[in-house]
Amino acid sequence: MKKIVKLTTSAVPFALVITLNVFAGIADYNLAELGLVALIIGVFLSLNLIISSILKRTDYFIYGISVVALLGIFSMFVIPSIGQIYIHNAIFGLYLGLFIVAFFPPLVKIKPFTISISESDYPKVVTRGQQFWRINIIINYIWAALFAFQMFLSVITYSNNYVIQLVLTQVISNVILVGVGVPVVKFLPAYFIQKIPAKPLHFETAKELFEAMPIGLNKELSKNVNVILQFYLTGEETEGYLIIKDSKCSFTNGVHPNPTTIIKADSKLWVSISNNETSGSKAYLNKEYIVEGDMAILDNLNDLFAPPGTVKKQKGKPKVKKIDFNYKTFEPGMLKKIVVFDGGPRTTKFSKTSLMVNHFIEGAKEAGADVEVFKLKDLDIHDCSGCFNCWTKTPGECIYKDDMTMLRKKYREANLVVFASPLYIFSVTGILKRFMDRLLPVLEPYMLIDEHGYTLHPDRYPELGKQGFVVFSASGFPDLENNFNGLREMFKMWSTHGENMHMVGEFYLTAAETIVHPIYANRKNMVQEVCKKAGEQIVKEGKIDNELMQSVTDPGFTSEKFQDESNNFWKSLENKTSYLKGSPKIS
Ligand SMILES: Cc1cc2nc3c(=O)[nH]c(=O)nc-3n(C[C@H](O)[C@H](O)[C@H](O)COP(=O)(O)O)c2cc1C
Repeated sequence: MKKIVKLTTSAVPFALVITLNVFAGIADYNLAELGLVALIIGVFLSLNLIISSILKRTDYFIYGISVVALLGIFSMFVIPSIGQIYIHNAIFGLYLGLFIVAFFPPLVKIKPFTISISESDYPKVVTRGQQFWRINIIINYIWAALFAFQMFLSVITYSNNYVIQLVLTQVISNVILVGVGVPVVKFLPAYFIQKIPAKPLHFETAKELFEAMPIGLNKELSKNVNVILQFYLTGEETEGYLIIKDSKCSFTNGVHPNPTTIIKADSKLWVSISNNETSGSKAYLNKEYIVEGDMAILDNLNDLFAPPGTVKKQKGKPKVKKIDFNYKTFEPGMLKKIVVFDGGPRTTKFSKTSLMVNHFIEGAKEAGADVEVFKLKDLDIHDCSGCFNCWTKTPGECIYKDDMTMLRKKYREANLVVFASPLYIFSVTGILKRFMDRLLPVLEPYMLIDEHGYTLHPDRYPELGKQGFVVFSASGFPDLENNFNGLREMFKMWSTHGENMHMVGEFYLTAAETIVHPIYANRKNMVQEVCKKAGEQIVKEGKIDNELMQSVTDPGFTSEKFQDESNNFWKSLENKTSYLKGSPKIS
């Protein structure tokens, strides 16, 4: 009904001006003869304006056409010379009115008229955004140009017969208006939504979110994406699935028989994650929502729907390979005596490796572990001389009587050993390596062949039992692959070649230097929580979940972004004070 009223009140002034034009032709543009008709048309125009205003159905079109026509009719009675010009050019006046209402309102920040046409095709959360307004300003001026063109067309003489002239003018004009103007309003917004930079949309409800997703999908980034996300949301009860395929996205209510990923969450939480107000990975680690199936899509979900300009074109993601190893598991509660050997040269105020270790310790202590930490750089540790006296003349004893005597004892008596080292030239620091070399006396010189056919040395103190070890390392680069291969390989060998020493977990913090900066606070918090959880888990359960290890390796940004930010940072430090003096401390 509302639509009919609106259409009628918009069509009436159009029809009235055309009628006036027809009568003007019949009366051969004689003002005296036209007086009564003009008066009646003026009255109807005014009535239409009043009625549409009362019904709140007045749009710019009605004003534009009516005001110009009423002024023209008024002048026919009051200033006949101008009235004469108007009556010869009533159709020109009609398009002039339309041009005025298209051209001027956006200049004074009044809503472009095309919004009221295109908004019915898009969800409210999209149409209330600034981007939609900007898009409509462009479309609005395309229409303004079309109206100007109609003004020009209306003064062309096609025929001396006023009926033929009128029909041709109207047919040509309206074919152009409908053929160009309507598709512009209908299809250009979808095109521009992909192109015009905008702030991310803010969703109030899950309904708004799922309505907007099909429109907001970034076609470029989603080229190779093929997923079906099944949602089960509580709160605002939603059961539906999102299909992202061939750069298209659709949301359907119901249950898909074969989803690639299932998400079970509270609707408010999911809306908050989608608004980037809550960290999705943190909420996941806190078990605030459940994901089944392929999780990888969730890392990029927000980017896939981010408006243009907010996501940098991804040249390359950092090479973050899945961490996989046959980690040893222990009986719950067995790994309670923990010793940490931190081989980093930095103090804990600045070391990102130590940051991880400290939270791991916190979790382990809370779970009841007894933890001792040794900062190796502060201890007296001589280089191994390679003399093998520890295997021959004085079995189990080194020629050097330094802090290693005590450290070896601590090492062998612990259930769980933590090796911590920043990544230095794709390996551990010299400090940690020197310490590890000096562990040789805990082995015997003889050779054993393990079940895989590899050679190893027997343990000198097998009566002390099997031990687990965890590795913590932080790197400057954002990649896990290649960068950490050397270090990982060394510890894998340590694990598979030690008779009683087995890796139970490994944590590689990529792009570690970035995490102290406030914009990466979310990642820092996540890393801290993950490490704490791992400490708790290893003591309580005798194992660490793979997802925990995995979550610290992905920096969450592209290599390109890392490159840009790092280069700017290092440029800013040229000839400046030392890096650590300017670097934020780990609070
Ligand atoms: C001598 C040296 C060698 C390094 N080699 C690498 C490397 O091979 N790969 C890398 O990603 N980062 C490398 N880095 C950067 C460190 O791994 C990075 O700064 C890390 O955050 C340090 O950890 P920390 O804060 O625990 O000291 C190197 C740093 C130094 C000082």
